[in-house]
Amino acid sequence: MDSRGGRRYLYLADVSDFGGKKCMTESGQEKTENAAALHLEVDDAADSLSLPLMHGSLGPSVIDIRELYSRTGHFTYDPGFMSTASCESTITYIDGNDGVLLYRGYPIEQLADRGDFLETCFLLLYGELPKLSEADRFRQAVIRHTMLHEQLSYFYRGFRRDAHPMAIMVGVVGALSAFYHDSTDINDPEQRRIASIRLIAKMPTIAAQAYKFSIGQPFTYPRNDLGFVENFLHMTFAVPCEDYLVNPVLARALARVFILHADHEQNASTSTVRIAGSSGANPFACIAAGIACLWGPAHGGANEAVLNMLGEIRTVERIPGFIKRAKDKDDPFRLMGFGHRVYKNYDPRAAVLRRTCRDVLEQLDVNDEPLLKLAVELERIALEDEYFVERNLYPNVDFYSGIILRAMGFPSSMFTVLFAVARTVGWVAQWNEMIEDPLQKIGRPRQIYTGESKRDYVGMEHRN
Ligand code: SDX
Repeated sequence: MDSRGGRRYLYLADVSDFGGKKCMTESGQEKTENAAALHLEVDDAADSLSLPLMHGSLGPSVIDIRELYSRTGHFTYDPGFMSTASCESTITYIDGNDGVLLYRGYPIEQLADRGDFLETCFLLLYGELPKLSEADRFRQAVIRHTMLHEQLSYFYRGFRRDAHPMAIMVGVVGALSAFYHDSTDINDPEQRRIASIRLIAKMPTIAAQAYKFSIGQPFTYPRNDLGFVENFLHMTFAVPCEDYLVNPVLARALARVFILHADHEQNASTSTVRIAGSSGANPFACIAAGIACLWGPAHGGANEAVLNMLGEIRTVERIPGFIKRAKDKDDPFRLMGFGHRVYKNYDPRAAVLRRTCRDVLEQLDVNDEPLLKLAVELERIALEDEYFVERNLYPNVDFYSGIILRAMGFPSSMFTVLFAVARTVGWVAQWNEMIEDPLQKIGRPRQIYTGESKRDYVGMEHRN
């Protein structure tokens, strides 16, 4: 028993599951459910509680604790949700120990090497790879929604020229709900479908315009004769004074980067989108909330932070000093692009990006070899260091992505914007799944209160 301040804490003494029983879920599927027997000991009084144990198709089972509070008067406590499943999902599966990432069952490596981004969007949204006719229809639907309401272009002028593009993304995407009222009713499946397509289609246009605004160049309109990635590159790098031909190598590499970033189960920004959507907020507001969360350096902002970190390290000789700082608890410095809440093995996306790095640098004839060499040496030294090995800290998706994006000509301030462009389909797919979930309720965690007990107001004259 732990006790603090005279209070006693109840805690799990033992969990054992027994006997499987067939049962039907709300969606009419048959599942084998066991029960988890929880033996609770409170103030030396032992009590037994049997809670359903739910099995997924892959990965750990979960103890269904929905009745825990009503049956015991106790909450669970799990800061950062390290051991908490917030929902049931069929979209993405991660095995952090084995470094596995599946989109609707397909390994990310195969999709990145053989698929294209809009095909991956279709897969994440609808659960299957599209047939040719479906792929054409989906591509047409997306391409025809890439333009923005012309009045939106005035929004950018409200920002300072040096505004971070992520600040612009949060503002402009949130404003979309003021222009597209006909796709904000979340209870209408057709409006949800149109909003989903609009968000996937318009994010690249908004991202390109945020970039153009930051460098003082005129906006380039989307073109319906270009593919999704080619259109984005054209809007980003074309200028009115001359033709711009998209480099197919660059387009292929960026498509791979987008595929790798498209979804990642219940990460912080996706959970933000789900929580915002659970209140009934419109889809544009939910995605704006996801963008805001992704911006953090512990999450999607890490790709920009990695480039800044490599710039600070500068030479291989200075690596040991920074490794030392990363291990020092009194030093806020962390090795950006390293570590992950779920992956306790090499992030499979980092492995693909690492080999893409070399391809892109060679094919674009960009001499960023020193930067890549620094990153590879930093990884090598870290992975041989006990501190990182003990904590299973490996390179994550952000460690190499910035080197590729910089070689493509993007400034580091645009790296997280590109992450948001790619992740929009994952956010939208998870948002739709959340709304269609019959068990869906507004997300409202509880807490353990450790503040003051009830006390009476004290007038100013008595506050000495
Ligand atoms: C993304 O969740 C997702 O799926 C996210 C994402 C997605 O696709 O949506 O994969 C994208 O966000 C990737 C992560 C990008 N962030 C970074 O690269 C920032 C650097 N990494 C860390 O901030 C950290 O690793 C996190 C935030 C990613 C994970 O943090 P956790 O799971 O809360 O782990 P932790 O902070 O509890 O760390 C465990 C230990 C601690 O040491 P001890 O207290 O055990 O002594 O590892 C240490 C940490 O200090 N540690 C690091 C470290 N990451 C963790 N030490 C030095 N450098 C690091 N990068």
